[in-house]
Amino acid sequence: MRPQGTVKFDNTDRIVIVTGGSSGIGEAICREFARSGATVYSADITEPESPIEGVTHLPCNTATDEDCERVVQTVINQHRAIDVLVNNAAIQPPGSYVPLHELPTSLWNRIVDINLTGYTWMAMHSLRQMQQQKSGCVINIASGQGHRTARGVAAYGPVKAANIMQARQWALEYARDGIRVASVSPGAIDTPLVRASLNQQGGEAAIANRHPLGRIGTPEEVAAAVLWLSSDAASFVTGTDLEVDGGLGAFGAFADPYPMADD
Ligand SMILES: NC(=O)c1ccc[n+]([C@@H]2O[C@H](COP(=O)([O-])OP(=O)(O)OC[C@H]3O[C@@H](n4cnc5c(N)ncnc54)[C@H](O)[C@@H]3O)[C@@H](O)[C@H]2O)c1
Repeated sequence: MRPQGTVKFDNTDRIVIVTGGSSGIGEAICREFARSGATVYSADITEPESPIEGVTHLPCNTATDEDCERVVQTVINQHRAIDVLVNNAAIQPPGSYVPLHELPTSLWNRIVDINLTGYTWMAMHSLRQMQQQKSGCVINIASGQGHRTARGVAAYGPVKAANIMQARQWALEYARDGIRVASVSPGAIDTPLVRASLNQQGGEAAIANRHPLGRIGTPEEVAAAVLWLSSDAASFVTGTDLEVDGGLGAFGAFADPYPMADD
């Protein structure tokens, strides 16, 4: 069973910014917000292959503070409001799947600049507006690799852990302004980012097998969690991390491995 787009939310009149909306999880988040009535802006360094109705592409390198400020200001100029910011744009280059002592400095810097500092710039500018409104929601897309170890994620893993802590920190700081902040930690999800590194991770069947549900997830399943967290149904939820991972996080070090299908 691969549930997709089955959850109904009403985001009529809500203004949403998603970073990295041209591909994968970000694209699904944009589509689901637009489908539920929101006006959506995707801040991405890459043009989308096919535009989504209700989603405006704003060219942006989130590693650059000026780009982030320009994107946020564009949305504020249009609507005088930002209801939801989803920090999602991130990279995990195949070349970064090496032990720390082999990691090129340039890759460390790119991963930190985009995956960590980019989230900070977007939140900093959006939170100023949300604070004035006395409402808003920020969701950081983190990762299961921010919770537990894997080989070859010397930069990506610690930075994804920091995405979870960013959300907690901002949740505390802005709670009394009516702003909620949370993070979502996906397991392996079927996107170009994961497909680019299947070999480094032992192949698709091996990755799927590590998830107790026996498969990798869909971008829509992550989008559903984001839409729920940003909805009024989650009005008493802030500072939390939601793992959307097919049970990967419950798979303990002492658990017996699942046999592979061809064992
Ligand atoms: N796919 C997974 O299995 C998985 C698992 C855990 C966490 N995540 C997280 O989910 C998020 C989305 O991942 P995905 O798999 O959809 O990736 P993806 O590569 O499919 O999409 C990432 C998008 O971000 C954009 N982007 C990259 N650098 C950018 C920059 N500097 N400025 C603006 N946009 C930029 C890309 O153009 C692309 O559209 C990331 O935060 C990733 O760490 C993914």
